[in-house]
Amino acid sequence: MSKKSILITGGAGFIGSHVVKLFVQKYPEYHIVNLDCLTYAGNLENLREVEDSKNYSFEKVDLLDTVALATVFEKHTVTDVIHLAAESHVDRSISDPLAFVQTNVIGTVNLLNISKQYWKDLEGHLFYHVSTDEVYGSLGEDGFFTEQTPYDPQSPYSASKASSDHFVRAYANTYGMQTVISNCSNNYGPNQFPEKLIPLCIHNIKNNKPLPIYGKGENIRDWLFVVDHAKAIDTVFHTGKSGETYNIGGFNEWKNIDIVRLLCDQMDEKLGQEKGTSQRLITFVKDRAGHDMRYAIDASKIQKELGWEPSLQFEEGISKTIDWYLSNEDWLGNVTSGNYQKYYSDHYQDR
Ligand code: NAD
Ligand code: TYD
Repeated sequence: MSKKSILITGGAGFIGSHVVKLFVQKYPEYHIVNLDCLTYAGNLENLREVEDSKNYSFEKVDLLDTVALATVFEKHTVTDVIHLAAESHVDRSISDPLAFVQTNVIGTVNLLNISKQYWKDLEGHLFYHVSTDEVYGSLGEDGFFTEQTPYDPQSPYSASKASSDHFVRAYANTYGMQTVISNCSNNYGPNQFPEKLIPLCIHNIKNNKPLPIYGKGENIRDWLFVVDHAKAIDTVFHTGKSGETYNIGGFNEWKNIDIVRLLCDQMDEKLGQEKGTSQRLITFVKDRAGHDMRYAIDASKIQKELGWEPSLQFEEGISKTIDWYLSNEDWLGNVTSGNYQKYYSDHYQDR
């Protein structure tokens, strides 16, 4: 069999960088090509551990640039794709939906087209699309998202991801492309950009700034440690069945307010502060427009069929995450300088 040359898109982002590191280190026999245009969310500092590895290349390319995309396929003889590049933040999708259509929908179709053209004989090549549980919409108090739950996206972000999922399935059905999709719950862990709830609160607690809780803080998410997601992607890539969908989740539902309290308590302890100090920073602010109430994943298919399960308990994962942010002050300082300040004041001022 010829050597695999796997194109991982969005490899400089939060989840993508963990996937790239896992593949580069675990599979020296593969060549890993990280394609990323380095938006505000992409950061090559996330890849220090592997940047000099022989089986790793980086290509700064935008998914909207079809000429450059085709060149990357030729240059690296790409055999398979793991597609993570996306605009990923719900709040930004509310203020700028078109950016999400461009990268998440058009960018995905560009990548599907180039893959189809380059591979010609589609047999033996896999297009793996990484997606979100948010495509299923919002749950009430009961029930779980399964692979059979009808799509019902509610935010511009989830609408764009749902659309990209549909295109991937359409290419499998229409052209016979070998595809697999996984839909995962909320990730947390090292290297997450501090626009998302958990790193934003860690950063604000450290800087004694208010912790903005949308609405009453009663919205529920299922949380998974990012390294467990990367391991699930490895499992699905190698043992998932073409044409199938796999839901990935942590069996770990939390109300937002309870997560923030947990962060406060752990941070007080780690910073040597009196218990209760950080909780005083909790501030209830105007709710997110169209805020989905609850996400909960039934991950029994991937567990039963592929043998994957999460390895970390949430409290332990949160502790590791806080430790990472406390010992990577430079990383946090770099990503919160410049544009972040403007994003933060535009988004939270007057809220
Ligand atoms: P992220 O925002 O941290 O990273 C996205 C990466 O994509 C960045 O490196 C960025 O530079 C790159 N990118 C964006 N637009 C691009 C373009 N036009 N061309 C090339 N590169 C581009 O995102 P993340 O949280 O790591 O999410 C990765 C994937 O996983 C996304 O597809 C997201 O929908 C999905 N997902 C995320 C979560 C989560 O909790 N974060 C959960 C489930 C699924
Ligand atoms: P987020 O991390 O943005 O992920 P997603 O919207 O994809 O679930 O938000 C997680 C939850 O936290 C969500 O219910 C919105 C809420 N939230 C806040 O209450 N305050 C904040 O400042 C942010 C960013 C999120």
